[in-house]
Formats: sequence, structure tokens, C-alpha cells
Amino acid sequence: MPQQGIVAVILRFHHFYLTLQTSFFILSPRMITILFIGDVVGQPSLQGLLKAMPGLRERYAPHGIIVNGENIVDGKGLSDREATMLFQAGAHVITTGNHIWENWKSRPLLATNPLVLRPHNYPPENPGRGITTATIANGYRMGVIQVQGRTYMQTIDCPFKTLDAAIEEVSAETQIIIVDFHAEATGEKVALGYYADGRVSAVLGTHTHIQTADAQILPQGTAYITDVGMTGPAMSVLGMNIDVALNRFLLQTAHKYELGEGVTRISGVVLKIDDTTGKAHSIEPFVQPEFLQTGL
Ligand SMILES: [Fe+2]
Ligand SMILES: [Fe+2]
Repeated sequence: MPQQGIVAVILRFHHFYLTLQTSFFILSPRMITILFIGDVVGQPSLQGLLKAMPGLRERYAPHGIIVNGENIVDGKGLSDREATMLFQAGAHVITTGNHIWENWKSRPLLATNPLVLRPHNYPPENPGRGITTATIANGYRMGVIQVQGRTYMQTIDCPFKTLDAAIEEVSAETQIIIVDFHAEATGEKVALGYYADGRVSAVLGTHTHIQTADAQILPQGTAYITDVGMTGPAMSVLGMNIDVALNRFLLQTAHKYELGEGVTRISGVVLKIDDTTGKAHSIEPFVQPEFLQTGL
């Protein structure tokens, strides 16, 4: 019967299509999405970020979230209270930086919570570590390493050699490895990006608070940006009150830290990472609200 023949052909094609679809699903890499939020400056900015977090999670659907929290309490570190708020809002790991040591309440937090990091290349007698792994959505394991630069900063251990040992430790557990490189000098940051290329999923710069326009995938598959930028008050000098910052420059004397004003501008990047290789597929920087590029 010709009709039976046609049905048989359709069924065969359907079976072939299903097989193809299944094998494509098995063979194609699964992409893991990681959201990284740059240095949060001040309590009002923490509140601004917490308010924006549901929208960011809906927009980017991240499996893992990392927040740099080095400047939350008047520009200096964070305590257990602020860390708890960030974890409750969905953060999996909090990184910090040089300013973490200026807040005494940060030290017990570093000593007791392995998901709050400080740069790993400070002398090991200091509390805390700069290496961790965390379970993120769908049971994936995300490794996070933080090291700090030495150019125009404290003369701590070599961030490059510290990173070698840190990658060895973390890669025993997962291929998804995000590095927060907290550094001042652009050259040192770019150099460390190439140094780590192909060995980690991403090298993301923090500390200088202004997002750079060089987000890219390096030749061996590592996502890179010189600085993610800050999450801080829009009317400010890197988060600080404008008059205070001006007095520091004009008068060359110390002036009490005050936060800037205006809405919270959130800076971050979204990474897509191949879960089978740990290599980055894409890096998408964002700033919200955006900077105005035209005026009157
Ligand atoms: Fe910072
Ligand atoms: Fe810093």
C-alpha cells in the first residue's frame, strides 16, 4: 500500500531526527553562566544592588554569582551582616581586596567563612584565604581565586607564582575557575591575563572602579577584562564624595572619607563558560544605568 509506505518513511525520518537531536544534545557543550559584580562601595550601593538583584538574575539567569565587596562599609571591607545580605540575595562567593584590612570586623568573617575571600598572596599569617570552590546552580562547582597586584600597591608575594599554585589546587576539583585580579596597574593586569590564558575560565580585574572597554576572549579561551568597574554612587570620584576627593588632591592632606551621591551605578560582567572544557565562550560587560555620552 503506498500510504503505508509513506507512513513508514515519515516514521523513519522522525526517528532519524530524534536520534540526531539526542546526539546533538549529548555532544553539544552546556554553557554555564556566571555573573560578576564589581566593587560595591558603601551601604546605599549595597542596598541598590540588593534591589537590582532579582532583575539581574531574571535577565541573565546566572548559575553562579560573585560579588566584590571590599568597599561596602564606608569604603572599607564588610562584616558578617553585609555578607549575609549578599548571600541571601544569591551571591555564591564574595571577593574583596586591599581595603578589607581596614575594617576590623572583616577579619573574623575572613577567618570563619571560606566563601569570603581576600587576595591569596598576602602573608599567610593573615586570616582567610584567596581560594575557594562553591556549589552553584545545577550542582556545578565553581572555583574562585583572588590575587592582588604589586605595582603601586603593597609589596606582597608574587601574584603570578601564587596563581600557579592556586590553579593547581582548584583545578583538582573543577575546570570552571574565575580569577579576581585586584590590581592598580593596567599592564600588570593584562600580563596576568595572558599568563593565565587557557588555564582558567576568566581573569577579571577589580580595584580601579571604572569599567574598561577591553572585554575579550584571549587566544587560549580565557575571558578577560582589565576592570569590571564599581557598583557605587553615580556622582562620585570612584565612590568617594567629590569635594572630599578634590580636597585630597588640592590640599595634599588627609580628609575624612565620605561616600558620593546619586543613584547606584552597577558594573558587572556576564560570562558563558563551556562546562566540558572550562573555557569561556563569551564575556558581556554591562553598566546600569549607562554613562551619558551626549549632553545638551
Ligand atoms: Fe575597590
Ligand atoms: Fe581595592
